[in-house]
Amino acid sequence: MSNLLSAKGVTKCYKSGARILEVLKGVNIDIKKGEAAAIIGASGAGKSTLLHILGALDRPDAGKISLEGVEYLSMNSENLADLRNKKIGFIYQFHHLLPEFTALENVMIPGMIRMNGSGMNILSHLWSLLHPTFKSAAFKEIRQRAEQILKEVGLEERSAHRPAKLSGGEQQRVALARALINNPELVLADEPTGNLDLSTGDKVFDVIMERTVQSGKTLILVTHNPDLAARVGMIYHLKNGALCKS
Ligand SMILES: Nc1ncnc2c1ncn2[C@@H]1O[C@H](COP(=O)(O)OP(=O)(O)OP(=O)(O)O)[C@@H](O)[C@H]1O
Ligand SMILES: [Mg+2]
Repeated sequence: MSNLLSAKGVTKCYKSGARILEVLKGVNIDIKKGEAAAIIGASGAGKSTLLHILGALDRPDAGKISLEGVEYLSMNSENLADLRNKKIGFIYQFHHLLPEFTALENVMIPGMIRMNGSGMNILSHLWSLLHPTFKSAAFKEIRQRAEQILKEVGLEERSAHRPAKLSGGEQQRVALARALINNPELVLADEPTGNLDLSTGDKVFDVIMERTVQSGKTLILVTHNPDLAARVGMIYHLKNGALCKS
């Protein structure tokens, strides 16, 4: 089977003053549709940097990355945003929820942006969020999907809360639901259970596995938790700027 995601020779440096920090020195990774891989490595090794680059949220200094055979580093920012919305679900290490919207609304937003790409007006949907009496059928369908995922991650009772009224672990689960709402082909998860107790973390990880690998989708997981890495099966170690299979 051909690769879903392929990265070759990815490098990334950060400059701070006169100092150059070489974080990634030629990372290669190939992953097929339906596979899962875990990336482990010390704090500061570059795991989040790599995941952001693989998810088209940041650009490398050199290297090639393709998703479903399409090289995406040469795309303009509009096409990249469209690709991210349709194909990639990113679970951030730090959640980046929109503070003015409730948990449910935060989860619905990627679904509405996607609708906009297929001809619906994003402003009318944002209007529907703020004025609940104005609701299209598509809006209701996205709302049902968002409610279902929030239920699966144990947050049905918290869906009307804004992020400031949620605990860190609850915010993390909202961010996870937001990443999964469009059933993306590729889910990139940066320590998705890092703020959760063991039991909640296990349940949430079950949801991630059900909605990715067990549904034929692809998962790349960054984690410090060896048990989670073992559940994924394929483990890469990021060390000295390169990935090697453990
Ligand atoms: N925007 C930036 N400018 C300068 N240095 C950066 C920037 N982002 C990250 N770094 C540095 O790059 C290195 C890799 O950071 P990164 O966040 O990728 O590490 P990580 O492996 O995800 O660590 P952790 O396990 O703690 O989350 C770190 O030394 C960090 O300080
Ligand atoms: Mg990190």
